[in-house]
Amino acid sequence: MTEKYMFGRPFETDAVVVDVPEAQGALPYGSVSVTDGFCFTYRMGEDDIVYGLGEANRGINKRGFCYVSDCTDEPNHLEDLRSLYGAHNFLVVAGRETFGLFFDYPAAMTFDVGFTRTELLQVTCRRADLALFVLTGESPYDIVRQFRALIGRSYLAPKFAFGFGQSRWGYAAQEEVRGVAEQHRRHHVPLDMIYLDIDYMQDYKDFTISEKGFPDFSALVEEMKQQHVHLVPIIDAGVKVEKGYDVYEEGVENGYFCVRGDGSPFVGVVWPGETHFPDVLNPDARAWFGRNYRRLTEQGIEGFWNDMNEPAIFYTPEGIADAKEELSRFLAREIRGESLWGLKDRLAGLANRPEDYRSFFHRVNGQMVCHEDVHNLYGCYMTRAASEALEEIAPGKRFLLFSRSSYIGMHRYAGIWTGDNKSWWSHLLLNLKMLPSLNMCGFLYVGADLGGFGADTSRDLLLRWLALGVFTPLMRNHSAVGTREQEFYRFERVEDFRHVIGVRYRLLPYLYSEYMKAALGNDLYFKPLAFVYPEDEIAVHTEDQLMLGDEIMIAPVYTQNAIGRTVYLPEDMLFVKFLPDGEISRERLAPGLHFVRVAVNEVPLFIRSGRCIPLADIAESVDEIDTGSLQVLGFEGAEYLLYEDDGESTDCRLEGHCRIVR
Ligand code: GLC
Repeated sequence: MTEKYMFGRPFETDAVVVDVPEAQGALPYGSVSVTDGFCFTYRMGEDDIVYGLGEANRGINKRGFCYVSDCTDEPNHLEDLRSLYGAHNFLVVAGRETFGLFFDYPAAMTFDVGFTRTELLQVTCRRADLALFVLTGESPYDIVRQFRALIGRSYLAPKFAFGFGQSRWGYAAQEEVRGVAEQHRRHHVPLDMIYLDIDYMQDYKDFTISEKGFPDFSALVEEMKQQHVHLVPIIDAGVKVEKGYDVYEEGVENGYFCVRGDGSPFVGVVWPGETHFPDVLNPDARAWFGRNYRRLTEQGIEGFWNDMNEPAIFYTPEGIADAKEELSRFLAREIRGESLWGLKDRLAGLANRPEDYRSFFHRVNGQMVCHEDVHNLYGCYMTRAASEALEEIAPGKRFLLFSRSSYIGMHRYAGIWTGDNKSWWSHLLLNLKMLPSLNMCGFLYVGADLGGFGADTSRDLLLRWLALGVFTPLMRNHSAVGTREQEFYRFERVEDFRHVIGVRYRLLPYLYSEYMKAALGNDLYFKPLAFVYPEDEIAVHTEDQLMLGDEIMIAPVYTQNAIGRTVYLPEDMLFVKFLPDGEISRERLAPGLHFVRVAVNEVPLFIRSGRCIPLADIAESVDEIDTGSLQVLGFEGAEYLLYEDDGESTDCRLEGHCRIVR
């Protein structure tokens, strides 16, 4: 059951798709104060677990830390970081009392989950203008499913998007792109996508193509498609300020950009230099921005990634002016250690300054809305712009689309990648733990930069990370310019990469089927063990293993130089290993703790008692997977209900699309 409590005058975010009547009276759980902003307080039981918060730092149980929903471009995801790129204000308290909370509020919001005081859950924000949804149900899992129905069906990715994608910030010419495809095909390493980062554009201008690097773009797109490879270009939020650039000119002429208090377009400096931000909260501006995607779809493009849409701001002219003043004051007096640090912070603080976010406005329904009050919606609405336009461009066709910044509601339009992680083992584990929380908030098409974006990766880290990526709907190797190159062919023994990535394609019928079942049934693709084995105390507290669909459990290795890992089995399971010679080892294990050996070139998974999964033959692209000749892997006599469709149209139903494989 869902109840809705309204406070003040909330901004309509469109996160919720079901009409819930407003509840009267006191909240069933906790209490709210609106005397100084908004503050929700709940006294948790000692052993209560708190799930949710989607793209957030730390573990599956969010207890013991303080998180801030405030979409931020911060590339250092350290353990104490409170804000990432998304704002997913849904959580479930499970224990003494079990209930869910969704705070539909588009500005910064703080979730103190027993951090300041162990027993207190406190959710606070500056303005008491929001809708609070309170969900009750039989279990945390039941509550999550109800929440998913409340926010609407998750985005359906096209089937090709379940293949492997290679990316790197720096591919600047068609020869490089051809080279990437050629290396994969030559070494028989599967590939379905090559991502184009900002260097494909002319001077980082959205919807343009570098003439020097890509003199015949549409021919390249076609040539790649012949090889079953989709090119997926990036689109950034900021539109370059440049006389004569039509997107800029049109935006200015029609008032489609966010404005300062005086009505002039707001200027934020990002990759292209000075930019304006499309006012995607304004329906006309949104439709206009979206229409521009056609410039690329007309050249054969079928997928996009939307970036820098927190929106990220490196600095503003106003910020520079403030800093200059500070600097001259600093230079005018004696250098003291303390003020030097202050100055350093001040310069670092030029990026994503709260003052800047406070200084510009959106025009929504004839009202000027301060950006700060709707900050967390920007990436969501940029991506909605793309999705709505793509639906007009090709009605009923699925496009690959994912975004960096997001708010709940965006899950209906696209997926997300989890931004600028680092080539650190701890980030492999963070990737794993974030997955079920993202799913709870509706984001099913998700993945991290495999191998790590920032810092230099190592061969073993990349292989281990790929062995997790085999299971994430978005499987992409992406890295930053200036870091060690991390395409598989930069390392020795390419056969190990062929094997690990190849396993993805053998499992793809299963992974795609489970994805579609989860999306169409408002269910989870990744679940914490706690949702499947709620009576098993050890399972409930296990965070480095996940359930995937109804058949398997995954337990990747996430430490360097390990020969395997300890895994907890809540029930009898079949321990399966995809071995580098193409063989599959199977070992039935009893419930309890086991140490399992897993070499760096092996992919492990566990099949639940009495279940099985379909397995395809090796293929080098999604198109080439032969679903007509599937084997099954698992327990004797088990059956699997396989979902299949054309992988392209948005008109999907479970009925009539499932067949039993045994
Ligand atoms: C941002 C993105 C990253 C991309 C880079 C250059 O940092 O998160 O993925 O490579 O910008 O466009």
